[in-house]
Amino acid sequence: MAEVRADLKSIVAALKKDDFTEMFMLADEVRERKKGEVINIRAILEFSNYCKRQCAYCGINAKNKSVKRYRMQPKEIVKIANETAKAGYKTVVLQSGEDVYYTKEILGEIVKEIKKTGIYITLSCGERSFEDYEYLKNCGADRYLLKHETSNEELYSKLHPCGTLKNRIECLKNLKKLGYETGSGFMVGLPGQTFETIANDILLLKEIGCEMAGIGPFIPHPKTPLKSEKQGSAELTQRALALTRILLPDINLPATTALCVINPQSRQDVFDRGANVVMVKVTPEELSPFYEIYPTNIRVLDIRAGRKDIENKIRDLGKIPV
Ligand code: 5AD
Repeated sequence: MAEVRADLKSIVAALKKDDFTEMFMLADEVRERKKGEVINIRAILEFSNYCKRQCAYCGINAKNKSVKRYRMQPKEIVKIANETAKAGYKTVVLQSGEDVYYTKEILGEIVKEIKKTGIYITLSCGERSFEDYEYLKNCGADRYLLKHETSNEELYSKLHPCGTLKNRIECLKNLKKLGYETGSGFMVGLPGQTFETIANDILLLKEIGCEMAGIGPFIPHPKTPLKSEKQGSAELTQRALALTRILLPDINLPATTALCVINPQSRQDVFDRGANVVMVKVTPEELSPFYEIYPTNIRVLDIRAGRKDIENKIRDLGKIPV
C-alpha cells in the first residue's frame, strides 16, 4: 500500500521511488473523495507585464529590456472580466507583474466593478503591504495567489535579488489572516534544488495552510540569467503535485500551464493524479505574446470559444467542467 507522512524523510523517499504508480493512484483516490469529478475552470487575465522585480527565472523581470511593456486600463480590465462572467466562468484571476502604477485605490475600483457580476476574484499581483491586502479584501477580492517559488532560503535569495523568503512568507500569512483563500506554490527543477527542497516546499504549503497551490516545472527563458539551465522534469512535477494532494487533501491544485507546455500528455494525466483546477487565458490576443514569463506556444482563443474548448476537453476526460 502506498503511504506518505508529512515529514521530510518520508516525502523525500516517496519522491525518489522507482515506481510511483501506486502513489499516483492514491492521489487520485484522495482527489475523488474530496473533490469528486469536478474540474474548476478559472479565467486568467494578465493585465500588465510591467514588473519592478528581477526574478532570475522570469521572462518579464525588470532587467529584460527586449520585452514590450503593456498596461491595461481599468475600464478594459473590467470589460474583459465581465465578458468572462458572461461566458460562464465563475472565477477570474487578475495577474500582473509587480506594477506600482496600480495603487490599491485603482485595483480596488476594478475589484468593486467586477464584483457586481458576482464572479469570484483572485488577485495575483505580487507582494504588497498588509494595508493594501486589507483594502483589496474589503473591496471584494476573494482569493490571492502568491507562490513562494522555493522554500530554500539560500536559493530564494539567489533567484530573487529584490526580495526575501521571510517577507514572502509574511505576505502569505497576512493574506491568510485577512481571510483570503490563499494560494502559494513552487517550481520544480530550479537549478540547485534538491529532493529535500521539494519536500520542504510541500511542508511549507501545509504550514501556511494554503487553500491552493500552483506546482509547475521551471522552464528556462532565453532572455534571463537562467537561459542555459535545464528544464524541470514533468514526471517529478507530477510526483510533487500528487504528494501535495495526499498530504493536503482539501487543497485546490491546477494542472499548471507550464506543465502542459513541456508535456502535453500531462494535461490529461494530472487530472488522474491529483489536479482539480485548470486556468484559461483571457488576455487580449494582441497582448498575450508579451506576457511571456517562460516560452510557450499557447494561442489564446476568444473568450467564449476558449470556454467551450476547455469544457469539451474536460468532458472528453469524463469529468465535469464548472
Ligand atoms: N519557468 C516556470 N515557471 C515560471 N514562472 C515564472 N517564470 C517561470 C519560468 N521560467 C512562474 C512562477 C510565477 C508564475 C506566475 O509563473 O512560479 O509565480
